[in-house]
Amino acid sequence: MKNIIKKILLFLVAVVVIYGVGRLGVVTYDSYVFVDRQPYMVMQTQNSITLKWQSPQKEKGEVHYGFFSDGMNNKIVEETAVDMHSLTISNLSECTKYFYSVHSPSMSIDNQNRSFSTLCKTADKQRLWLIGDSGQEGEDQTKVYEQMLKYINNDFNSLNMWVLLGDNAYRSGTQKQYNKALFTPYRELVKRFVPWAVIGNHDARRWAFYDIWDFPTKGESGGLPSSSEGFYSIDNGNLHLVMLDSETQDRNSEGYMLTWLKKDLKANKKPWVIVVLHSPPYTDGGHSSDNDYDSGGRLKEIRENLVPIFDEFGVDLVISGHSHDYERSKLLVGHTGKSKTFDAQKHIVQDTKECYVKPLEKTKNSGTIYQVCGSSSKLDRAKLQHPALPFSFETMGSLILDVTPTTLHSKFLTIDGKIADEFIIKKDNSACPVKNEEVPLMYKEGIK
Ligand SMILES: [Fe+2]
Repeated sequence: MKNIIKKILLFLVAVVVIYGVGRLGVVTYDSYVFVDRQPYMVMQTQNSITLKWQSPQKEKGEVHYGFFSDGMNNKIVEETAVDMHSLTISNLSECTKYFYSVHSPSMSIDNQNRSFSTLCKTADKQRLWLIGDSGQEGEDQTKVYEQMLKYINNDFNSLNMWVLLGDNAYRSGTQKQYNKALFTPYRELVKRFVPWAVIGNHDARRWAFYDIWDFPTKGESGGLPSSSEGFYSIDNGNLHLVMLDSETQDRNSEGYMLTWLKKDLKANKKPWVIVVLHSPPYTDGGHSSDNDYDSGGRLKEIRENLVPIFDEFGVDLVISGHSHDYERSKLLVGHTGKSKTFDAQKHIVQDTKECYVKPLEKTKNSGTIYQVCGSSSKLDRAKLQHPALPFSFETMGSLILDVTPTTLHSKFLTIDGKIADEFIIKKDNSACPVKNEEVPLMYKEGIK
């Protein structure tokens, strides 16, 4: 009898070990399998940019660049033959547009209309396009993308940044899925913009995400050095954009990411602060922030540990994905509990729909607007009953943000080309139009 039990146990252990080794093999293969990849850009700073591409053969590639499409007079040649290319162009001028072409003998590269811009110290106006959970290639993804192109009249010059809110390649963020879901369908954007992306839970199923991108760890693109690719800031014009990994990093208040976040927000001097992270603190869509166990407890941790930091530094906007719908709050402060604890009197700073006023200086408890936009390629059946998120739609779409030194205008552009939700935050001392002022403006001083 003892022998039989022993044999069964050994058999079970062998099954578990074989399964574990098999899974590890699959995950490693998916994460690091070599795929050809057209050139794309990472590590945009005020004076440099890095071009990456993957060619079928090991070879020395070269990049030509210059101020004019017919005058790319500068050339950089790689020193060694590789198939995974990474070439940094340095000594560029700040806030300047360059044209470039990439040449790699074994590869047919689409060099039509390739350009990039360096980050800006100041800007009169900036436009961002943000997509969430965009990683399902197909008709819906294409339609959402095409509505953005229509909105900007196919004028890429009117766009300054492109931001991805995570789950950028379904189903598991493999190298092959990234080619299918991002590099191929958005190829015209990839030629012109750095895809600034945060990791989603589906991306985190493999290790390709941090292999595909290089992110600034030394404050190269702005903000305080983070010493981690998982969290960093980008200073561009009027914006301080904070990119967080809500999926694989420590989300504890005293953990390294949140400790860095507090220091980074304290040091920031830009007028607009936007935090981007995949998992939201509030949602009642495909995911529920009232369920402590939803998404492994990440939504709860983010609400309890990050919201107080957003309040402390008066973060203007927190944008997430994860639920495949659109949800948006008013200007909020101090709501770290479940939806039943939401108290409009206590947690709404300005009870208006379309217009909010904030001080230009960083001000504690001046309020934060929370947006979920996880419907750029997928849609969930959703209840959308969270009392803190009154402007919510079971609709596919993307976000357009227009930013000036004193105004931030957000629009949810649907798959049908409609603006289903929009609001403006003003920091120019002018009041909102009277029709928007449902209650007097007030700041919730003293709320802990
Ligand atoms: Fe997700």
